[in-house]
Amino acid sequence: MLYTFDINEGSIVIKMSEEEDFLEVLKELPGVGNVTAKKLIEAGYVTLESIALSTPAELVVNAGVSESTAKKVINSARQKLNIEVTTAYEYYLKKKETLRITTGSKNLDDLLGGGIETQAITEIYGPYGSGKTQLAHQLAVTVQLPVERGGIERGCLFIDTEGTFRPERITQIAEAFELDPSEVLKHILYARAYTSDHQILVTAKAEKMLKKENIGLIVVDSLISHFRGEYTGRETLAERQQKLNKYIHMLLKYATGYNLAVLVTNQVMADPSTFFGDPTRPAGGHVIGHGVTTRLYIRRGKEGRRVIKLTKSPYLPEGAVEVLITDKGIVDV
Ligand code: GTP
Ligand code: MG
Repeated sequence: MLYTFDINEGSIVIKMSEEEDFLEVLKELPGVGNVTAKKLIEAGYVTLESIALSTPAELVVNAGVSESTAKKVINSARQKLNIEVTTAYEYYLKKKETLRITTGSKNLDDLLGGGIETQAITEIYGPYGSGKTQLAHQLAVTVQLPVERGGIERGCLFIDTEGTFRPERITQIAEAFELDPSEVLKHILYARAYTSDHQILVTAKAEKMLKKENIGLIVVDSLISHFRGEYTGRETLAERQQKLNKYIHMLLKYATGYNLAVLVTNQVMADPSTFFGDPTRPAGGHVIGHGVTTRLYIRRGKEGRRVIKLTKSPYLPEGAVEVLITDKGIVDV
């Protein structure tokens, strides 16, 4: 299947038409014929990594191949990638250490233990206009900074579900960081997602770009707006959560497999059970709560400031910092 990403005002567009090349790669693997190769590609397995990182059961369900074929293909893919330990995850975890990407705010970096980390999903949730999309833009730039300035010198895949990505804002922030704006824009792969299914498809199809384009950060802004908008009734809730769960696992697999950072934004909803304190909580329930590694809550503070609070981390203490959103991006107060 051919897939074409959307165009956004001169920013980068990805065209995906390389299934045929990959078909040849797959067919060269021992034990893989034309039929199996086609099934795998149609199911969205478009890189050797995506196969090597799978379990046989996943291939059986997703691509409709037999279990013995699945095992053979996975082994061949792992051999080809020189992965010789039991699971691909272990291999990647061992080989690749966590990297950190500066947010551009020293205080926020400190709160996060040095910036946004790879091999993990970081969520930022907060009300309308609080600055989630701004942080997403900022990180799309800072990921490209040289290592000595807190970046990882890699690109960004920006999945936009709300149509709020603004190349002009990227230009502004890039200039503030003394980077060449057109170079920065060239290293942002932009994908507009129009429905939840489209979002899933776009994300699945983007896998083959991750290594090729040296992607160090995936932004999903917003993670669940489509899901919330489409699955409104109680009777569809289970289905929605199941889809979201699968989606988050896909993101986590990318984060681990390609040693990259994932930033997702999320909305808040009123929590009727809260009488005291902040009457808001992130949308999406436990599926997101368990799925993401680190959670940040952003809200408006005094005098146009933004308060960012760390509300979930596997090892860091809770805390909060204040930042400002300026023409130069997000800066310390
Ligand atoms: P929703 O997506 O609607 O939930 O909101 P959000 O949390 O994504 O908000 P967003 O990041 O879009 O923040 C919007 C706010 O950022 C605006 O109200 C402005 O205060 C600020 N902002 C956005 N663009 C600029 C800009 O170019 N310059 C400056 N100085 N501030 C900006
Ligand atoms: Mg937004």
